[in-house]
Amino acid sequence: MTTTSGANRWEAAVEALRARDARVPEVGLVLGSGLGAFADTLVDATVIPFSEVPGMGSVTVPGHAGKLVVGRLPGEGPSPVVAALAGRIHLYEGHSADEVVFNVRTLAQWGVKQFVLTNAAGGISPTLRPGDLVLISDHLNFQLRSPLTGPNDPTLGPRFPDMTRVYDPGLRQIASEVALTQGFALREGVYGGVLGPQYETPAEIKMLRTMGADLVGMSTVSEAIALRHMGRKVLGISCVTNLASGVSPVELSHAEVEETARATRERFVGLLTGILRRLAA
Ligand code: HPA
Repeated sequence: MTTTSGANRWEAAVEALRARDARVPEVGLVLGSGLGAFADTLVDATVIPFSEVPGMGSVTVPGHAGKLVVGRLPGEGPSPVVAALAGRIHLYEGHSADEVVFNVRTLAQWGVKQFVLTNAAGGISPTLRPGDLVLISDHLNFQLRSPLTGPNDPTLGPRFPDMTRVYDPGLRQIASEVALTQGFALREGVYGGVLGPQYETPAEIKMLRTMGADLVGMSTVSEAIALRHMGRKVLGISCVTNLASGVSPVELSHAEVEETARATRERFVGLLTGILRRLAA
């Protein structure tokens, strides 16, 4: 993929989506490790494999399905039309930040105005426990890449976009209120984004903690930057799947991450459902 500018970079993808579903989704959802199956619960659903959308690419990590599902929440109550990306593309797979954000930019070009980005993360803050759900209040970009390098496309956003409030305060307020109605307090924390794919060393975690990170993970940051650049509203929610390296008494494994994500899935889905119902127009 090139970094040439022009809205037509997404035109074929958006055309393919429009041909499959005439609705313009109101909320975009990126489903992190272990949450992909949430997409399968949507009703009035159109299932679109990434492979059928020009440029949306393929996803290679176990636990990431690689499809877009457009639909509504099942059950009683209001629901926005949701566009759920089950599976995301990561920098550690060897893709550029520009490629990593192709899918969320495509949704934004389709007309989606607000996004919920979810992920699995390691807990750095000593108050976090595996299974905690944490609102991302801000991030540290230790991936040291930006999806905005290269020529700026002014139809997307400005050359030097503000990043004071990447994670929308209004959406965070809604998420906190929803959690309270469900009987738990959502924590807030700073997400330290790293490149991976190796987990961190204890020394790296100590550095991240000193610099203000409460959580560590390998995704989300590029997407949040690209969406803020486009003026979209972003909510970020992490599931703490493990204590970070050196905080944890045991070695880290993807199996542990997937296992905790699975065990937390029901509460996470409940929270997402509550938030999405509140976002129904
Ligand atoms: N580090 C980085 N990414 C992660 C972790 C972690 O400890 N847990 C889940 N994703």
